[in-house]
Amino acid sequence: MIEWQYRCLQSISREFESPSHLQFMPALKMSKRGLVPVQSGSPFADFEKSVFIPDAHIPHLEEAIFEKLLQFLHDFQPQKIFILGDWMDFYNLSKFDQDPTLFGQLQKELNLGKFYLDKIRSACPKAGGIFLEGNHEDRLRRWLWKNPEIASLMALDIPSLLGLNEVGFDFIPYKDYYNYNGSLIIKHGDIVRMHSAYTAKAELEKHGVSGISGHTHRLGQFNKTDNAGQRVWQEAGCICKMELPWSKNNNWQQGFVYGYMENPGNRFHIVPVPIIKSRFFADGTYYR
Ligand SMILES: [Fe+2]
Ligand SMILES: [Fe+2]
Repeated sequence: MIEWQYRCLQSISREFESPSHLQFMPALKMSKRGLVPVQSGSPFADFEKSVFIPDAHIPHLEEAIFEKLLQFLHDFQPQKIFILGDWMDFYNLSKFDQDPTLFGQLQKELNLGKFYLDKIRSACPKAGGIFLEGNHEDRLRRWLWKNPEIASLMALDIPSLLGLNEVGFDFIPYKDYYNYNGSLIIKHGDIVRMHSAYTAKAELEKHGVSGISGHTHRLGQFNKTDNAGQRVWQEAGCICKMELPWSKNNNWQQGFVYGYMENPGNRFHIVPVPIIKSRFFADGTYYR
């Protein structure tokens, strides 16, 4: 046993005699297209950049955040932009009692929803867009199912009302999810636990794979390594105001997520961005 340990130590010390493995590699720089270029002889494929925008609850979007998020989108030029759901609040379609002074605002709010999507499209004209429906957009379906006489009108579905085709966003219905290269689930979310990252843990345990979700308005990450490998689930925060007409004194965190996703491939690196008083650091820049 002693001899075996000694041999091991010998081989380790031999390995460390050569400093070649300690040489610094040049950092990979983003090209104008935003892809990390393949270096000659590199075993790695390209990485594409994605941004994940959580709950905006328009018209209760925090404008000071959105302005800086737009600047970041313009600077970062992601290949894909995900709207993680609850883009619209649809307070007027809520099943709960409503403040009458906030009634009759639906068209105005839809116009705002389209306006902000247009702004995102202008900041990133070439990015692919994916719009995930949240439970707040799903209020429209629930309302229509109670009034089925007009439920089949295409003009009343979310893609038509928000003009998603015109701004180049694909639509994913509530409770469906986007499967990113078979390694990462992107969804709005339908689980809520009371603390940051507790929902992330529940989502990871439910799906057994990595993912990113909105819905809780909390920013939190849960990591797990076992025989199936290393996985992560990210709760993405929110970009709405910290208090909404229907919810006060909230344990919420404003934030969003961006990431580098291997394509083709299944490696990814996701970066949560906490937003503190409408300011944040992202990709090495301070947005204030
Ligand atoms: Fe939600
Ligand atoms: Fe939400």
